[in-house]
Amino acid sequence: MVTGGGLTRMKRYLSVIGLSLLTFAAIGDGGSRSVRAADPPAGPANVSYFRDIRPIFQAQCHGCHQPAKSSGGYVMTVADAMRKGGESGTPAIVPGQPDKSELMAQIVVTNGQALMPKGKPALTAPQIELVKRWIAEGANDDSPASARPQFDMQRPPVYSAAPVLTSVDFSPDGQFLAVSGYHEVLIAKADGSELAARLVGLSERIESAKFSPDGKRLAVSGGSPGRLGELQIWDVAEKKLGLSYTVGYDTLYGASWSPNGKFVAFGCPDNTVRAIELETGKQVFFNGAHNDWVLDTTFSVNSDHVITVSRDMSTKLIDFGTQRFIDNITSITPGALKGGLNSVDRHPTKDELLVGGADGAPKIFKMVRDKARQIGDNSNLIREFPALPGRVYCVAFSRDGQRIAAVSSLDGKGEVRVYSVTDGAQVMRAEVPSGGLFTVAFSADGKTLACAGFDGQVRLVDAASGQIVKAFFPVPVGQPVAAAK
Ligand code: HEC
Repeated sequence: MVTGGGLTRMKRYLSVIGLSLLTFAAIGDGGSRSVRAADPPAGPANVSYFRDIRPIFQAQCHGCHQPAKSSGGYVMTVADAMRKGGESGTPAIVPGQPDKSELMAQIVVTNGQALMPKGKPALTAPQIELVKRWIAEGANDDSPASARPQFDMQRPPVYSAAPVLTSVDFSPDGQFLAVSGYHEVLIAKADGSELAARLVGLSERIESAKFSPDGKRLAVSGGSPGRLGELQIWDVAEKKLGLSYTVGYDTLYGASWSPNGKFVAFGCPDNTVRAIELETGKQVFFNGAHNDWVLDTTFSVNSDHVITVSRDMSTKLIDFGTQRFIDNITSITPGALKGGLNSVDRHPTKDELLVGGADGAPKIFKMVRDKARQIGDNSNLIREFPALPGRVYCVAFSRDGQRIAAVSSLDGKGEVRVYSVTDGAQVMRAEVPSGGLFTVAFSADGKTLACAGFDGQVRLVDAASGQIVKAFFPVPVGQPVAAAK
């Protein structure tokens, strides 16, 4: 049986091909520095920064203390800066002397509270003890060169191969196109003429990048595979990271904004869907009704429900206020579900949901069931469109709700189609022979589609004729990597 697991794995595998080339080139200068062999065991083992301390700091501190967002002028992702401290001018770490290290003073618990992590529960006693021992033992950074942060806004990634593209989104004013890159989101002019901004954060892999309803902010879900999930909120005009929210140990998927602009929901590979509140930066919503990865999310028109799709083949409706599962929107009749679901988009003005996945046929469902469930029914289904070749990775409504677009991948070829919502007729179809398509978006005026995927090029396609208006790499690719000085 073909399941959604296969597609996501394939996508990940494909990204790795692109990334390994890049990583290889990027660590050229540090590659000769080998990881120090562990000292022979004598007494209690030394505390390792890489193994014991960094995971704590990544989850609890880096969100506010990194190059893109250095609260208090303090950066903790780079060893020298972490020792030096921030605007207080006091060294944060004095190797060998935890008592003289400001960082210790910030994390110790007095009367049940600690200064850092700011606004969050204190570190646990064993964690604090580990940090203390690490400083007492000399506060060495034993991270291998490949695990040290290599990129930030001042040193953006240099691409030796085109990255696989997983997300495109037009700004509501039609001026810009946000494209997922490696370690960054690229903001291109909507006509592809120019790269306007590069938003470089900590996450290596970007799964989704979505403009807020007012277009001022960008929600980015991603992470470092096998280590950390991260949601970033950027101020687009200022090119500033407003929030870095870390969750779990793997990449996050399918970020979506509530129409009222107050919340961002995202799917997690621990089968949960969560949402944060923008004003407080806190998680306010959590639901675990799915039993496989949640790959995409959206909100109801009134921002009072979250709708999710998952590799478990179902589309679920969840009440936002109570965080309770309400209903399976897709049929739950055995045999009715056909493979994992990858993408969901809501009609611009109605609670109707467009869903796409492994069976290739985009479908529109009513959000709320108006008949009692009968075994064997699929009563929320409003329309099923003819299947695209292969699996559908992304679906989108046009902003007037009259048409839908879907992209697919089969045997290394991509296809994009537009269908009319009223009668299901195919309006347009275009093929991309050089690789599967993973993401599609309508321009604000509905005349152009942006689609992208395996070959790393963004294609702007005329939504009526299917003619490819422009194909471009959002970043310079294939340039020699600058030699280390
Ligand atoms: C939610 C954001 C946030 C998180 C998370 C956070 N900090 Fe901070 N940190 C700040 C801010 C803001 C300041 C500036 C002083 C203030 O406002 O309290 C600061 C200041 C500091 C300073 C003083 C820097 C200087 O020299 O002025 C240290 C040290 C520090 N933080 C350590 C940590 C450590 C260690 C963690 C994780 C255990 C952490 N912080 C987590 C926001 C945060």
